[in-house]
Amino acid sequence: MIKPIQSFEEYTATYASSISDPEAYWASQADQFVWKKKWTKTLEWNFTEPSVKWFLNGKLNITENILDRHLKVSPDKVALYWEANNPDEQGKAISYKELYEQVCLFAGVLRSKGIKKGDRVCIYMPMIPELTIAVLACARIGAIHSVIFAGFSASAVADRVNDAQAVAVITSDGSYRGTKSIGVKSLIDEALQTCASVKTVVVAKRTGDAVEMLSGRDYWWEEEIKKATPVYEAEEMDAEDPLFILYTSGSTGKPKGVVHSIGGYMVYTAFSFANVFQYKEGDIYFCTADIGWITGHSYLVYGPLLQGATQIMFEGVPTFPDAGRFWNIIDKYKVTHFYTAPTAIRSLMSFGNEVVEKYSLKSLKVLGSVGEPINEEAWHWYNEFIGKKNCPIVDTWWQTETGGILISPLAGITPLIPSYATLPLPGVQPVLVDANGMVLEGNNVEGNLCMKFPWPSIIRTTYGDHERCKQTYFSTYPNLYFTGDGCKRDENGYYRIIGRVDDVINVSGHRFGTAEIENAINEQADVIESAIVGYPHEIKGQGIYAYVICDKTDKSEDQLRKEILESVVKMIGPIAKPDKIQIVPGLPKTRSGKIMRRILRKIAEGELNSLGDTSTLLDPGVVEEIKKGAL
Ligand code: WTA
Repeated sequence: MIKPIQSFEEYTATYASSISDPEAYWASQADQFVWKKKWTKTLEWNFTEPSVKWFLNGKLNITENILDRHLKVSPDKVALYWEANNPDEQGKAISYKELYEQVCLFAGVLRSKGIKKGDRVCIYMPMIPELTIAVLACARIGAIHSVIFAGFSASAVADRVNDAQAVAVITSDGSYRGTKSIGVKSLIDEALQTCASVKTVVVAKRTGDAVEMLSGRDYWWEEEIKKATPVYEAEEMDAEDPLFILYTSGSTGKPKGVVHSIGGYMVYTAFSFANVFQYKEGDIYFCTADIGWITGHSYLVYGPLLQGATQIMFEGVPTFPDAGRFWNIIDKYKVTHFYTAPTAIRSLMSFGNEVVEKYSLKSLKVLGSVGEPINEEAWHWYNEFIGKKNCPIVDTWWQTETGGILISPLAGITPLIPSYATLPLPGVQPVLVDANGMVLEGNNVEGNLCMKFPWPSIIRTTYGDHERCKQTYFSTYPNLYFTGDGCKRDENGYYRIIGRVDDVINVSGHRFGTAEIENAINEQADVIESAIVGYPHEIKGQGIYAYVICDKTDKSEDQLRKEILESVVKMIGPIAKPDKIQIVPGLPKTRSGKIMRRILRKIAEGELNSLGDTSTLLDPGVVEEIKKGAL
C-alpha cells in the first residue's frame, strides 16, 4: 500500500526527486502493489502522437489489489457503509470479504453471459452497492466499463452505448432520489431501441416497481448470482489495457469517451488518495460524488478501496429529508474525511447555520473540495461551520482526463490559501503558457494551464477516435498536455485555478460543451439557431444562458421556452437545462459568420455597458435588440 508523505519538508524533497527522476519515483510507488508479472520498462512517451505507456509489459488485475490483497489482512474490515436515500431504511455494512465474494460472483454472471476481456459494458445505476460491485466485476474479468451518470436521458445513453459498442448494460429497476422514485429500466429500454450491439441487460432490484423484461436479453441480478460460478482467478491484464471509458464534454461535438488504462490509473488513484487525504487506519471517508462522474470512479471506487479504506456510499440527495442530511451522516458514522463540491457547499450554506448547528461534526479531520473553483465565501463557511477551523480543506484540482488529483494541498501538510489548489503532487509538472504558447517562467504569472510531463493516470486516448484526443489536448501547444483551464501562479509559486478558457461550461461541477446544449436546443422544431454562454450563478457556479432565434410562430414565448427545455431534457437530461432562455431576433456575428460569444457573455453577466467594440459585427443593431430583452 502507498505510504503517504508525512511533512512539508518531505513533500518538498520528494517533489524535487520525483521531477529529477520520474521513472524511478513512479516505479517505487508501483512496487507497492501486487503484480502478476513485473513491468519491464517504466515509461515510454511522446505528446505528439500522443502515446503514453506506463509500466510496460506489467501484468496485473486491479481487483486483486482491491480485494484479494485486503482479504488476506483485514477480511472483516468494512469497505462500504451504504446509506439509503430514506434515513428510515436500514443501511448496509459490506466488509472487504463480502465485497470480494459479491464481485467474484457477479464477475461469474458476466462470464456466463459470454462477456469477455475487452468487451465494453455500460453501467447505468443509482448509488447502490451493486454499482460498485458491477464496476469491479468488469475489472475482474477484463471487460471495459463505461459508467453513465443515471441522470442522463435515453438519447444521451444511446449515444454513449453506440459509441462504445457496448455488449451489455447493467442497470436497476428504478431509483430513489429524495421524495422521488424514478424508472431507470424503462429509460434503458427506450435507449436500447437504437442500440443493436447490446445483447444482455442485467437488472438489480431496488424499488420493486414493475418493469418489462425482454426474454433472452434481460435478466435479474438476484436470480443470476444464485446460479453463477464465482471468478476467483482474476483475469491477467496488461498494464496498458483499458480499464474504463468515461464520457465527458468538450468544446466541440458530442461527448468523447476518455480512456484510462489499468496500471497507471491504479498507481495514481491510490497514490493521490493516500497523499492528499492522509487517510489513516480507522478513519471513515465520505465522498459525496456519484460514481457516474470521474470523482466517483477515482475517489469512491478505486483510490479508497485500493488503500483499504472504510467509506460511505450515499444513495440520496443532500436536501432530503432536510438540508442537514450530510451532517447527519457525518455524525451517524463518525466520518473523518468529507469530500464534496463547492456547489453543494453553497447550496447548503443558503439554508442557514441553524441546520448545521444541530450536529456535532466533531469526528471530522479533513475536508475536500472538487469540481470547480471554490469561492472564498464558501471556503470560509466550510472552514468555520463544518470544519470548526480545525480541519484542513484540500481544494483538489483535476479532470476526467487526468484520472486523479494533480494540484492540491496534502491535508495538514501544505499551507493553505483560501481558493488556491496550492501545489502540484509529486511527479506532476504544470506549466503556464500565454496565448502564443510561450511558457511563462517564474512566479506572479497568469496563463493557460498545461502539463509538460506525463503522470501515470493521464488520458490514453478518446475511444474510437485517437485524432480527437490529439486535437483536443495535445495540439494547442506542441509537446504539452493542455487542460483547458486558466490559472495563476502567485509570488510563492502557489496555483489558483481561474476557470475554463474554452467553450466548456461548468454547471454545479458538471461539464457541458456549449455546442452540445445548442444542438439539443436546435432539435426543437421552431428553433433556427441558438448560442449558449455561462454566467456567474450563486449556487451552481455557472448558470446556462441561452440566446435562441425562432421561426415565426403563433406560440407564446413561454410555450417556446417550455418546449426548448423539454428538448434539452430529452437530448441530454435535466442537469443541462438552461437557467435563462432569451428569444432574440438575431445573434451578434462577425462578417465571417462567427458568433461573438464575448458580447453574449457580457450581456448574460449584466454588463451591458462594457461590450467593447461592436462595429466589426455584421449587424451591430442586433446587439441593441438583445440588450433590450436581456433577462
Ligand atoms: C474544473 C472533475 C477549480 C476545471 C474532477 C477542470 C476545478 C474541470 C477544480 C474538470 C478545482 C475541477 N478548482 N476548478 N479544485 N476541480 N475543476 O472532468 O475547470 O468533471 O478543467 O473533473 O473542472 O471537470 P471534470
